[in-house]
Amino acid sequence: MDKVVVITGVSKGLGKALAEEFKNNGFTVVGISRSEVDFVDFHISADLTKKEEIKKVQEEIIKKFNKIDVLINNAGVGLYDSWENMKEEQLRYMFELNFFSVVNLTKEFLPYLKKTNGSVINVSSVAGKMYIPYMGGYCATKFALNAFSDSLRAELKPEDVHVLNLIVGRINTGFSSRALGSKKPPETPSLGASPDKFAKAVFKAYKKRKREITFPVWYKLLIWFVNLFPNIYDKIAYKKWNS
Ligand SMILES: NC(=O)c1ccc[n+]([C@@H]2O[C@H](COP(=O)([O-])OP(=O)(O)OC[C@H]3O[C@@H](n4cnc5c(N)ncnc54)[C@H](OP(=O)(O)O)[C@@H]3O)[C@@H](O)[C@H]2O)c1
Repeated sequence: MDKVVVITGVSKGLGKALAEEFKNNGFTVVGISRSEVDFVDFHISADLTKKEEIKKVQEEIIKKFNKIDVLINNAGVGLYDSWENMKEEQLRYMFELNFFSVVNLTKEFLPYLKKTNGSVINVSSVAGKMYIPYMGGYCATKFALNAFSDSLRAELKPEDVHVLNLIVGRINTGFSSRALGSKKPPETPSLGASPDKFAKAVFKAYKKRKREITFPVWYKLLIWFVNLFPNIYDKIAYKKWNS
């Protein structure tokens, strides 16, 4: 039987590109999103912010395939606002999707991932390695996700379950147009990378059982700069957002 990959947030953007890449490499692709799609082998409509729907997703997949080889936690949402103006319900909703749904779905599939010595791939962000003003809430979800990935990897080492964390920079998906909050920037597609190149880089890293990749790789330099020179970064970032 083909290897089975489960991809959340499959309907568009990075999830769709990952589905195509894994499909091209012979995987049976199971996709999850609220909207229906027909380009995967099996699709489940679910709102992952609802814990009961996460349980339903796991039961349906195990009933149909009785195994899982790769879980890609990709579904996520952004929030652009100052801490002063941020709406608590939007912050909580984003944490439910970007963090708690990842933890809960991973826990549901862990017994099966142990049986296949499988992989958990978490789609994090550059925003989980450096703070960004007016995206502080989003950064908090991705910093939390990085802590989850790193500690989970260490805990699962004896079981040989692979955990790959993806530090993602700007990619052209329309992500910011779908974000929450009152300070959304205009879409600037020319600045973003291609989802297809991203998906290829992820598949390569999965095959090599890497622990983390940064895509595009030049963001490593930015992360290094921000963490080393925060006072300079504060001034540049404030100017950029308020110009
Ligand atoms: N694009 C970037 O520049 C960028 C940069 C860094 C990190 N990332 C991360 O990459 C991941 C994917 O982003 P993207 O750019 O592909 O975003 P996107 O194009 O907006 O796609 C988000 C996906 O998540 C699904 N989704 C949203 N809310 C959901 C919910 N409540 N339950 C189930 N599924 C839900 C959406 O499908 P439905 O609406 O049909 O449910 C969609 O398939 C996110 O975790 C994001 O934080 C993106």
